[in-house]
Amino acid sequence: MSQTEPFASPQFQHGIDSAEPKTSVPVLEQSEALVKSRQRVADHGEVFTPNWMVEAMLNLVKDESERVDSRFLEPACGSGNFLMVVLTRKLKTVETKYGKSTFERNHHALLALMCVYGIELLPDNAEECRNNLLNVYLKYLGEDVQTYWKRAAVEVLRANIIQGDALTLKNSDGNHIEFPEWGYLGAGKFQRRDFRYDALTQRSSIQGTLFELFEEHQNFIPTNSYPPMTVEELSK
Ligand SMILES: C[S@@+](CC[C@H](N)C(=O)[O-])C[C@H]1O[C@@H](n2cnc3c(N)ncnc32)[C@H](O)[C@@H]1O
Repeated sequence: MSQTEPFASPQFQHGIDSAEPKTSVPVLEQSEALVKSRQRVADHGEVFTPNWMVEAMLNLVKDESERVDSRFLEPACGSGNFLMVVLTRKLKTVETKYGKSTFERNHHALLALMCVYGIELLPDNAEECRNNLLNVYLKYLGEDVQTYWKRAAVEVLRANIIQGDALTLKNSDGNHIEFPEWGYLGAGKFQRRDFRYDALTQRSSIQGTLFELFEEHQNFIPTNSYPPMTVEELSK
């Protein structure tokens, strides 16, 4: 790569576009680094999406991105640029709908977190993504919340943000990627069932075909089902 290419510019590396914007596209935030290193771009195609573009793209599915229990999976989630905005939008809805009751607000905020999923190849990105999402969630809950809310969120993120390969559908241990399907039953109880990701992707590929009815029951057998859990039980 020659020095005149965009990634060679240290300003680009730190997300600063020194040129005057010619269109209405916003200038990038100074703190928003879009690449970590040239090597990582070459090896893994690691270029992060700027916040203004994430917002614009999510506006294409605005209603879904704001619905508390819509499920979003990003199969190459990086440090969570998309998932953080999805979570922020969901939490705004939580505040509007449940803000008057601390009990409902906190439980629905956890449900919002439970509905974002990611796969990321690189361990440092996967960990950053979990931390970034945790910070968005904790900032919303406030500092005086009991510690089991944080421990529960850490458990959720451990299960929802997988370090693995979205092409082979295997995690970093070489096992099949599994995702939990979370649900809020009301009265402070959550349910969890785990599914293999490859089974879920097969299901979408047979939808609308003759195999659909035949295969449905096979693909929808959970690998694990848990009894209903409170937040405290979930945090253990
Ligand atoms: C172009 S970046 C995008 C990151 C994030 N989605 C964003 O928009 O800011 C692509 C990300 O995918 C990851 N990646 C590359 N190959 C992957 C694979 N086979 N499975 C999962 N993640 C992968 C890279 O490590 C990198 O973090």
